[in-house]
Amino acid sequence: MVSLDLNAALGFIDDDVYKKAREDAFKAFDVLHDAKGAGNDFLGWLDLPSRVDEKLIDRIEAVARRWKTEVEAIVVIGIGGSYLGAKCAVEALSSAFHAHAKGEFPHILFAGHNICEDYMGELLDYLSDKEFALVVVSKSGTTTEPAIAFRLLRDLLEKKRGIKSSERIVAVTDAEKGALRNLSEEKGYETFVVPDNVGGRYSVLTPVGLLPIALGGFDIRNLLKGAAGMEKSCAMRDNANPALHYAAVRNALYRSGKKIEILVNYNPRLRYFSEWWKQLYGESEGKDGKGIFPASVTFTTDLHSMGQYIQEGERILFETNILVENSAKEIVLKAERNDGDGLNYLAGKRMGWINSMAQLGTMLAHGEGGVPNILFKIERIDEYNLGELFYLFEAACGISGYMLGVNPFDQPGVEAYKRNMFALLGKPGYEKASEEIKKRI
Ligand code: PA5
Repeated sequence: MVSLDLNAALGFIDDDVYKKAREDAFKAFDVLHDAKGAGNDFLGWLDLPSRVDEKLIDRIEAVARRWKTEVEAIVVIGIGGSYLGAKCAVEALSSAFHAHAKGEFPHILFAGHNICEDYMGELLDYLSDKEFALVVVSKSGTTTEPAIAFRLLRDLLEKKRGIKSSERIVAVTDAEKGALRNLSEEKGYETFVVPDNVGGRYSVLTPVGLLPIALGGFDIRNLLKGAAGMEKSCAMRDNANPALHYAAVRNALYRSGKKIEILVNYNPRLRYFSEWWKQLYGESEGKDGKGIFPASVTFTTDLHSMGQYIQEGERILFETNILVENSAKEIVLKAERNDGDGLNYLAGKRMGWINSMAQLGTMLAHGEGGVPNILFKIERIDEYNLGELFYLFEAACGISGYMLGVNPFDQPGVEAYKRNMFALLGKPGYEKASEEIKKRI
């Protein structure tokens, strides 16, 4: 069960500012739950966990069972909201040193989240002698990066390996429209639908995230159970709602001049959780000249690189910590006769305890240095706790965006780079833009 502690943050906020932020958070909560705000046609994520479609879960698990025995690797192709949730869960739930998620399930790889020739070349080499399958995820079905990766990987599968693509390709896309939907129908791929009313960055609890997570051998039923519990907590219009508290305090900090929020973890398995969170908050709030800039660090690693700035740099930062209370492993330091490295004072102590002392010491130091700290604790990293975190941060993001006065469910700014890229690439339909951009370079 996720818990929230605001004690190391509230001391940095004037009472009046916090009171007003709390009032605004309750108003924003009403706007969200009454579906009265901008982007209210994208609220399908709000009750996804509590209306789990058993047939859908059965179908997802059936693909996982089939491919478990047929393939060694599965490449999940997607970008942004069609990538980060699955990547985050697979990283969080996997050992850092096993290629296979749980020894017996296929290795989950990712592609289509960049256009890097070396990355793709290495992936094609790696797959050249392997039994593999593809999951292609694109709500619009037209995004350039995954479309390029899909074309190349499909070619390897079908032409070079001679495999019937309908047996080894599953698509997750719109129910009716888009190039990927058309291609799936033409080629007979099995498909899963991205609901119309769920945007990319809120889609981890749809087949966009659930399918790749299940394919890695992880328990999506437990993930959804955690999310459903948190859905209940976040639907309460009272002080027990952690999303309301978090939204209120981070916005109060923003109003007090803290423009950058750093998501902190002390467990490298959560590195991609931070990437998922950064997209959620960055894309939802960074518009109309407003928004808290979301950044992230993994401690204690980054204390040796970013620690100096956080302790003594410009005082525009606050930290949101995700602390994991229980490790999965137990490692105890032993005493050595001559104590050459001077570590005998730690003999008999667990690494987890040493890490927790580093957490405590860091929070105290950063607090003394003028950095407010919000603290979330989870019992352990597992599907249930991850489901809770996914839902909690989504719910808080909806409230927080409305508090800022922006539409938390659109991303108009993402189009700007695409327009230029298409003009430079000479995409049909971009002839005029192409002429104009050439004059600028
Ligand atoms: O949050 C979003 O909407 C984006 O990050 C999209 O998920 C991303 O651009 C990929 O889009 P699509 O799923 O249409 O390929």
